[in-house]
Amino acid sequence: MECQSATKSPQLPPVLTIDGPSGVGKGTVSLRVANQLGWHTLDSGALYRVLAVASRRQAIPVTDEMALATLASQINVHFDILPDLSDTRVYLDAQDVTPELRTETCGTVASQMAALPAVRQALLAKQRAFRQLPGLVADGRDMGTVVFPDAPFKFFLTASSEERAHRRYKQLKQKGIDVILADLLNEINERDKRDSTRTTAPLVPAADASIIDTTGISIEDVVTCILNQVLKHTTKAT
Ligand code: DC
Repeated sequence: MECQSATKSPQLPPVLTIDGPSGVGKGTVSLRVANQLGWHTLDSGALYRVLAVASRRQAIPVTDEMALATLASQINVHFDILPDLSDTRVYLDAQDVTPELRTETCGTVASQMAALPAVRQALLAKQRAFRQLPGLVADGRDMGTVVFPDAPFKFFLTASSEERAHRRYKQLKQKGIDVILADLLNEINERDKRDSTRTTAPLVPAADASIIDTTGISIEDVVTCILNQVLKHTTKAT
């Protein structure tokens, strides 16, 4: 199957994958790790979210797999990381769709569309095109298992759903968004279940990924842990 067949090639730019469930801090960790290494980033979840936004505009229902796959192959996404790494603006064509992208509803629809094999296949080439010199930090659910199985550095972040719901709650409150903690926890649990039980590219750690339980650990410590492992590997190789 095409999804599983990326060949190992020493000529390809290096990739560091960071997978894990929603709200585990992958996005923030990825931006900081990439910034330290001077590498590019790929927020693969944003591609699924942009598809959810684009499909809404075209009134394509989540049941129409083929129309969604066609749309997925056509969407034009552009990322703009703020210089202080506090945020990434996401553009669909030339339009900033970031606020719409960040809603819980968009996450849920993205997760439903992400369960469709034809959609995943359509987004595969788009994701692999981000692999450019000097290297790529890619975060998502299947970066280490399907999209970049030959990545030399693979990490899988975990934390209890309660901790993730609390973190998300704090983030949204800080942004002045009113939410109910119990609702967030339900949404996280539902999304985890859908993402990890789907038949195509489910959320599972790659066999060769380092698993980091981030419960009670600061973002800085997770970043340091990842960078130390990269450094150890690079020093050994030279
Ligand atoms: O990381 P996120 O919350 O922005 O992702 C939104 C949804 O997209 C997530 O619930 C499942 C899907 N997704 C996926 O299936 N594979 C990825 N590599 C990234 C995201």
